[in-house]
Amino acid sequence: MEWLTEFRRAAGDVAAGRPLVATIATVDTACSPRARSVVVRHIGVDGSIWFASDARSAKNAQLAADNDAEIVVWLPEAREQFRFFGTVDRLGPAMGGKRLKIWQQMSDASRALFFWPAPGTPRTQDDAAFPTTVDAATAPPVTFEVLFLEPAQVEHLRLLTHPHQRRRWRSDTGWEREELNP
Ligand SMILES: Cc1cc2nc3c(=O)[nH]c(=O)nc-3n(C[C@H](O)[C@H](O)[C@H](O)COP(=O)(O)O)c2cc1C
Repeated sequence: MEWLTEFRRAAGDVAAGRPLVATIATVDTACSPRARSVVVRHIGVDGSIWFASDARSAKNAQLAADNDAEIVVWLPEAREQFRFFGTVDRLGPAMGGKRLKIWQQMSDASRALFFWPAPGTPRTQDDAAFPTTVDAATAPPVTFEVLFLEPAQVEHLRLLTHPHQRRRWRSDTGWEREELNP
């Protein structure tokens, strides 16, 4: 897929040095938009975008109720933006090995977050309730979830050219490239 080649090229430069941070927008039960940053943990061969999130978090509840979502990635060095619209699913029990692999590839500090008190609830605990490191040999808690967005539509915006270049690909048209006005 052309868009996946483009995304891997543009993201590869940053992925080498530091985490690839994306914004994921969901809708809540009142149909209001909600957005937040997540680290992209894996890009599948099918272009699926994987991230880890706590089962107790608002985003997981929103995605369980309505799994439509959009992920946006801004790559400042390349001056390129990618937008992925699609549906988000959780790794099922049959894919437990993949879930564990992502757990083990995360940093000690990132793993520790999953042992903190429930996200978004009132802060009542003292600092001791928030561990700083958890090693890779520790099993993930059941609330550690790996979610992945399967794109149905991808947009790519390049700011380096004049005029800017905006392209769209949709799965329902066989991922045929469309050139759009930026
Ligand atoms: C740079 C950065 C990376 C983050 N990565 C993640 C992540 O990978 N997974 C995650 O659940 N939250 C991540 N967060 C925290 C979320 O942005 C958000 O605050 C948290 O998940 C709660 O969101 P929710 O209430 O909408 O579920 C990250 C925040 C920042 C600033």
